[in-house]
Amino acid sequence: MKKLIALFSIFLFVFAIAGCKEKQNDTHVNLKLGHALDISHPVHKAMVFMAEKVAEKSQGRMKVEIYPSEQLGTEKESIEALQLGYMAMTKTSSAPLEGFIPEMKIFGIPYLFRDSEHFWKVLKGPIGKEVLLAGQKQGLRGLCFYDAGARSFYAKKEISHPSHLKGSKVRVQSSVMSMKMIEAMGGSATPIPFGELYTALDQGVVDAAENNPPSFFTSRHYEVCKFYSLDEHTMLPDILAISTRVWNGLTPEFQQILQEAVDESVEYQRKIWAEAELSDLKSVEEAGVKIIHPDKEPFRESVKKVWDEFEGTVIGELIKEIQEVQ
Ligand code: GCU
Repeated sequence: MKKLIALFSIFLFVFAIAGCKEKQNDTHVNLKLGHALDISHPVHKAMVFMAEKVAEKSQGRMKVEIYPSEQLGTEKESIEALQLGYMAMTKTSSAPLEGFIPEMKIFGIPYLFRDSEHFWKVLKGPIGKEVLLAGQKQGLRGLCFYDAGARSFYAKKEISHPSHLKGSKVRVQSSVMSMKMIEAMGGSATPIPFGELYTALDQGVVDAAENNPPSFFTSRHYEVCKFYSLDEHTMLPDILAISTRVWNGLTPEFQQILQEAVDESVEYQRKIWAEAELSDLKSVEEAGVKIIHPDKEPFRESVKKVWDEFEGTVIGELIKEIQEVQ
């Protein structure tokens, strides 16, 4: 029986790849894009904008089909699907990508960027370009960064000092860097996929989580967690990626159309992101969430050991280069 199931799975897998390839030819292309966020999220809206641009520029010959809310799998599963070439595109946080592309670890260094201006200067400059394309050999070609602001803690209790994390189970993404950070702050890190987090918080599987305001709002986690402490520990960009295999199979014309549409969506996303950050903070506050502006210094202090650990490594060098960007 087990053998039969295994054979059937292999058959399904081969069929899926064949099906995926079947639709690609020189005149018409259909690209499936899976991601974890809700359709009301500004990053989803930016991808809808991108897909519309693709259709417009190609006069309907190229289509990007978007599947939100982990319909096609968690972020980690989607990254793996891209590597195998049976899903064309995904939008993921840079955090789970670090397990596939070591350079991505850089974004997991807490309090690395001075502010949003510094962050974008680095991302749009040579370092950002290099990191975006660093996964090509692993089957993952980054197309762009989207703004994902800064991540902060939310819980059923106030977390305005790292000591408040002691004995708390904190949900993290599938990311060793995030685990290191939580452990350094004194909490206990528990990786859980984004789509399972509402229930995990509600049922007390974890005590706290961390994210940017639009994700906190659109996931409705604020219904369960009434304290949001803006310690802004990491700025982990979102990344839109395409399977290298699928990218290489596109004609130069389709590659150009896709990249242009993506680039235009980045400008659009940055604009709607800034608006969403403000209005989503207001919305959670109106829904009864207490917004806390803690002193960031003790948080910064607590994660110094994460920085020290990378001294003398490639990531340590990148940290220095990023600090030098003015
Ligand atoms: C952010 C990010 C998502 C990610 C989520 C998470 O919202 O945009 O891509 O899934 O964080 O914490 O898992």
